[in-house]
Amino acid sequence: MKNQIRINNKLNSFKKKIEVNSDKSLSIRCVLLASLAVGISKLYNLLNSEDVNFSLKAIKKLGINFKKQNNCTKIYGLGLKGFNLDKKLIINAGNSGTLARLILGMLLNSKKKMKIIGDKSLSRRDFARVTEPLKMFGASIESNKGKLPVEVIGTEFLRPIKYIEKRGSAQCKTSVMLGALNTPGVTTIKAEKSRNHSEILFKNLKIPIKIKKRLRHDLIKIKGLTEFKSFNYKIPGDISSSSFFIVLTLLAKNSELLIKDVNTNPTRIGIIKILNLMNCNIIFKNKRLYKGELVSDIFVRSSNNLKAINCPSYLNSFAIDEFLVIFLVAAKAQGISTFKHLSELNKKESPRLDLAVKFLRMIGIKVERIKDNIKIYGNPTLNLKGNFKVKNYLKDHRIFMMSCISALSFGGYWTINDKDSINTSFPDFLKILKKIGAKIN
Ligand code: S3P
Repeated sequence: MKNQIRINNKLNSFKKKIEVNSDKSLSIRCVLLASLAVGISKLYNLLNSEDVNFSLKAIKKLGINFKKQNNCTKIYGLGLKGFNLDKKLIINAGNSGTLARLILGMLLNSKKKMKIIGDKSLSRRDFARVTEPLKMFGASIESNKGKLPVEVIGTEFLRPIKYIEKRGSAQCKTSVMLGALNTPGVTTIKAEKSRNHSEILFKNLKIPIKIKKRLRHDLIKIKGLTEFKSFNYKIPGDISSSSFFIVLTLLAKNSELLIKDVNTNPTRIGIIKILNLMNCNIIFKNKRLYKGELVSDIFVRSSNNLKAINCPSYLNSFAIDEFLVIFLVAAKAQGISTFKHLSELNKKESPRLDLAVKFLRMIGIKVERIKDNIKIYGNPTLNLKGNFKVKNYLKDHRIFMMSCISALSFGGYWTINDKDSINTSFPDFLKILKKIGAKIN
């Protein structure tokens, strides 16, 4: 089968410098905000992946032009009222929950029915989490029992809302923040802490936003109907993509890796905090601020003394996409690791908590699970010998990449399906693995 790879060798003893592909969250947000800005925005190093390309196709359908030239994507924004919303449209979000949920918030003033669809994986994901708050603005929104397809018919009489976001979901928070942009008055959001790229971008664009930071939540107020100007933005590397290489290095022998120019926003570095609590020594070098976002080079070396963690669950939303590889570290650590309140993992591109438990058991690791809490019994001498096959799991890119890291770290003879899934978030994943020395057929 073509869309499949084989790995039969562990990877050890490398000392390399790499760059990963650009940040997906920032890329999608920049495309969407540029489409509402007045004038031509220039986005440099925009992630060239399916999720982002679906975002570009979506704004194009809404009447916004874009042009790609080398590493610069120009977006010709026409302001808050610039979308073509007076004819029925179908917007395909592909595999991207971020695109589907965020763009919904931008269609609340449509005159005709706008339909959002997606692929098989996206069609099983929860949309009630955004349709419920967005309906409060006054738009009429229907879904297929909380799933896609979702249909919106907007109104010109939007009213501001007060919304309490309890999941720690940046997608829900941002969807409402975008809804606020075309709504008169002040929209208020009380949100559990989650990645804050949207807030930082709003501030940069001088969109009237006030944020009060509390210990566990933020209070956000946005004044709508304020036009904002186009902007230039250079997207840094993605920490979620980096996480595969960080863990590969930690689990390898005699290895060191420097990952250049990664977004290390404090709301994204849960993985680093968790791994450092497990006795790793991951360091940020050359730290600098770019338009309010922290960017660093990440330095990591092999760790031969990993210890188990009782993972503080306030870090969950700051490491939400990284748990699959964090579990691999727990599998090799000394002691029993505990992770709690992970139900959101089952709401991702595939039911990742269920699959992670299945995966860890497949490689001989004892896992106890009670509801959304798991205990992983680490085995510091883990060394696999048999054959392992990873099938199609809704083409989940992160399951594919985690399986590759497991194969390269723990040994055994692996066949892993769904190679193409990396195109959603990290197209250069296999190329970079090969550059470091991995043998992949
Ligand atoms: C994202 C937020 C997270 C994350 C997703 C990207 C974003 O989802 O899992 O990959 O860009 O806002 P939730 O906000 O639903 O947790």
